[in-house]
Amino acid sequence: MRTRPLSALRKAIARPAAPAASLKPRTRTGAALAGVLVIGMAGSLAMHQAPLPAAASGGTCSPTITTTPFGTTIEPYTGKPAQVFQYTLTNCTGMQVKILNYGGIVQSIAVPDRHGHAADVVLGFQTLNEYVSQDSPPPPAPGGPYFGETIGRYGNRIAKGTFTLDGNTYTLPINNNGNSLHGGFVGFGNHVWAPTVVQGNGTVGVQLKLVSPDGDDGANVGCSCTGYPGTLTMFVTYTLDSSSQLRIHYTATVAGKATVLNPTNHSYFNLAGESSGDVYAQKVMINADSYTPTDKTQIPTGVIAPVKGTPFDFTTPQTIGSRINESDPQLLIGQGYDHNWVLNRAGLQTGQLGLAARAWDPASGRELTVWTTEPGVQFYSGNFLTGSIVGISGHTYRQSAGYTFETQHYPDSPNHPNFPSTVLRPGQQFDSTTIFRFSTF
Ligand code: GAL
Repeated sequence: MRTRPLSALRKAIARPAAPAASLKPRTRTGAALAGVLVIGMAGSLAMHQAPLPAAASGGTCSPTITTTPFGTTIEPYTGKPAQVFQYTLTNCTGMQVKILNYGGIVQSIAVPDRHGHAADVVLGFQTLNEYVSQDSPPPPAPGGPYFGETIGRYGNRIAKGTFTLDGNTYTLPINNNGNSLHGGFVGFGNHVWAPTVVQGNGTVGVQLKLVSPDGDDGANVGCSCTGYPGTLTMFVTYTLDSSSQLRIHYTATVAGKATVLNPTNHSYFNLAGESSGDVYAQKVMINADSYTPTDKTQIPTGVIAPVKGTPFDFTTPQTIGSRINESDPQLLIGQGYDHNWVLNRAGLQTGQLGLAARAWDPASGRELTVWTTEPGVQFYSGNFLTGSIVGISGHTYRQSAGYTFETQHYPDSPNHPNFPSTVLRPGQQFDSTTIFRFSTF
């Protein structure tokens, strides 16, 4: 396990911040916060206040950000080399996050345990070359793990890589068992995004911009398919505050034609540390009474099924491993958990943050709370990690080395009129926020 004493992180805090190119973080503040009833780890009911407004904490210490060159790679849109940077966000409680403008990737999140010892709690790679060649390489390479990536245009699967919108049929790269997964051959995760450092209101962060052209992931990636319609201008902004909240804010507009959009972040968490082995003893709660079962190719059947009485019931905290090997047909399809949960959002407006999930590591005392404006979350227990990948600290990742909470609209929504819509039209503004908050117990 990679651990660092808190003193090392405190030293890092003293480093000067990079000059701020913009003082205005693109984040939402307290307006959308709500008190929500959740069930605590011990199973007792407790009133849990939703994420803290950044300005409400921090005292005299302010988070810092540093910028480090991380190498160059060929940008697929231009075919030319582009510079990649690593942004290191450090707050005053010993949390440190590293973001890359390649793929909008969260490379590492170091957080203290209950004794103040920090460990990196997300799976990642050490070098740019590994991200380029292994994270989500285009065919003929096998599908990658998508560690930490910003996924798009469409998070998770679109059945047979086709959908119709406004009377037009669109076709997408087939890259997963007859379906299109996570945007196609290139997606958002293999592009070099334009970065801007953002600071203010007790937060530091980086805003990343990508312009995805009309027909993206079609002919421009060698696919004999139409690709996604419309020119999409996409921003993702990562900010860290002194309440140990990593906030991810997505905004987008489309020009020319309507499109479908379902971005998410694909970080794999392991609260015991990214090199600590399997996560089966960690506990998870998902704030969902139902989920969307799939066919054998992992496309939702369209049914919204209750979780009660199944291994998918995480309404009270359960260890990940306690039911994962049951013979439930859905667990067999996913080779573990790899499903979309339909979040309980009664009483919440569209765009309001609601509790999605929580996770606890009993050994280290680290706790993660996930808030989102999205209606669903893909809880994926790292089932397809086969031991072929060596991670950021030299440890080989095997099955269930980490788990994702991919906040999202439901998979294959463009082909399911009964699911919340993922259509974005010219003149509309896409706006979505997810918060990963770390604490100890
Ligand atoms: C998940 C998806 C899994 C797998 C993984 C990446 O979002 O649901 O089936 O493809 O990404 O390996």
